[in-house]
Amino acid sequence: MKKTYIGMFAATALASTVTFAQAPGKVKVGLMLPATGTYAALGTAIENGFRLYVDEQGGKLGGREIEFVKLDDESDPSKATDNAKKLIKRDNVDVLVGTVHSGVAMAMAKVAKDTGTLLIVPNAGADAVTGPMCAQNIFRSSFSNWQPGFAMGEAAAKKGYKKAVTITWKYAAGQESINGFKEAFEKNGGKVTDDLQVPFPNVEFQALLTQIAASKPDVVYTFFAGGGAVKFVKDYASSGLKATIPLVGAGFLTDGTLDAQGADAEGIQTTLHYADSLGTPRDNAFRLAYAKAFKSQPDVYAVQGYDAAQMLGIGLTAVNGDVSKKAEFAAALEKAKIDSPRGAFTLSKAHNPIQDIYLRQVSGKENKVVGIASKALADPARGCRM
Ligand code: PHB
Repeated sequence: MKKTYIGMFAATALASTVTFAQAPGKVKVGLMLPATGTYAALGTAIENGFRLYVDEQGGKLGGREIEFVKLDDESDPSKATDNAKKLIKRDNVDVLVGTVHSGVAMAMAKVAKDTGTLLIVPNAGADAVTGPMCAQNIFRSSFSNWQPGFAMGEAAAKKGYKKAVTITWKYAAGQESINGFKEAFEKNGGKVTDDLQVPFPNVEFQALLTQIAASKPDVVYTFFAGGGAVKFVKDYASSGLKATIPLVGAGFLTDGTLDAQGADAEGIQTTLHYADSLGTPRDNAFRLAYAKAFKSQPDVYAVQGYDAAQMLGIGLTAVNGDVSKKAEFAAALEKAKIDSPRGAFTLSKAHNPIQDIYLRQVSGKENKVVGIASKALADPARGCRM
């Protein structure tokens, strides 16, 4: 009898020691986002969204307090590998969260894969991150570049457009967005006749707008975001093209940008996994909390940051705060339904959201939902072996 009692006591003591050893202090989150340049506002919205969710949980995820280490990645791929390594080796972060720019994100994914560090991508759509570079410890709360592009390709063909010209920045995000559009548009009977590009992050569009006017397509599809999207939409209108050739795009073209674009954005249709007029209780609560905390309206980037924190919370809860348990962390996310303001979503085997892509139209200061362009759209995850 006595022996059993001692045995039970020892087992309890051991269990609590182990629990304590697994969750001793804070979880360090390395926020690697742009704080300067054309994507600076996007970085702020992502960070705001992330912090909002953590604050709603009382500052803790999976029982552990969250501590942030911040780094401005400047949307510069040439500095990305060193920056990611700095966060891991110098600052000892447990989790990397970043970033906006696809080129920077691909470098982060390589470092995450090599070091086994958890990575949650809260924007960058680089197809490779959940394609050839997919890994057990890499997750995305946002989209693949292919997703909104593909959805708009189908929507544009359905509208009866036959000839399209595309225009974007010459880097992974732009090229992959155009590829997604072209794949669906041409499969459905359309033809992309010109693929115009400017170097990132240039905003000298005049020569290319002249070319568009000369080739007279039925529609122009574009990928621009942040400061560049503001400039492009304004230039498109002032060139006179807005009155003659419809401009469509991946929804970043008009997200977080409408205050600056004003009337020049009115009526533009885009495809994206979020909109300003969802009207669901979940989204209404999120928008109210965000507006209260940050005195500004949330956008798609804020949602993606919020959901990155939700995903970290789901993983950390499953492993009781022990970030070394990568397999259990991944298993929890792979079966999770993430309660996003955009609408609930699940993750594909490659860890990319399977989600509805909305067709939206700018009306005043909002991207209003016109319909669902593509229901539960999954990225094909080409090249992912996991
Ligand atoms: C990207 O580089 O993948 C990217 C950047 C800004 C966006 C969307 C995608 O709004």
